[in-house]
Amino acid sequence: MGVDAFDKLVSLLNYPMYVITTLVDGVAAGCLVGFASQTSIQPPRFLIGLSPKNHTFRVAADATHLGVHVFDIEHLDVVQLFGSQSGDTVNKFERCHWHSGPAQMPILDDAAAWFAGKILDRFSLGDHVGHLLEPVGGSPPHELERWVSYGDVRDLKPGHQA
Ligand SMILES: Cc1cc2nc3c(=O)[nH]c(=O)nc-3n(C[C@H](O)[C@H](O)[C@H](O)COP(=O)(O)O)c2cc1C
Repeated sequence: MGVDAFDKLVSLLNYPMYVITTLVDGVAAGCLVGFASQTSIQPPRFLIGLSPKNHTFRVAADATHLGVHVFDIEHLDVVQLFGSQSGDTVNKFERCHWHSGPAQMPILDDAAAWFAGKILDRFSLGDHVGHLLEPVGGSPPHELERWVSYGDVRDLKPGHQA
């Protein structure tokens, strides 16, 4: 398969979007992520791809855990905040509601569902770095009929270019 065919294929995929958060030495960070997937059932594992250009990546380099959130479309504004602004210039956590969760991870109150994951490993995925997570706590969705997916944010200008 040529690169062109691959590009066209992935541009059609409508995968779920996640807001990732973390906290180190009182500094909270978070960004919107599309490169994410469950990778194992038993043991449960989840992989997050973070761009080294992002503020979140730099804070996460010293973190033990990440928070992983899924949003219903009614809270698209929070998703847009985390995808279009950078912690390099804006304190996103002053612009949304959150509380401290497992391992002190910042948990976003408007999320439809979330889990906190312990970072087991980090490895290159190409121009993103994989963070392999073991879930250690969370809150399941009550209902998740129309969660935010790639099609809802494909026109969003990222706070950092990938
Ligand atoms: C549709 C979309 C998908 C994105 N996917 C990722 C991703 O998988 N990994 C990542 O590190 N950043 C991704 N980003 C970019 C960050 O969310 C964005 O640059 C953010 O503003 C970075 O914030 P920070 O500098 O505070 O970490 C995506 C942005 C958009 C709009």
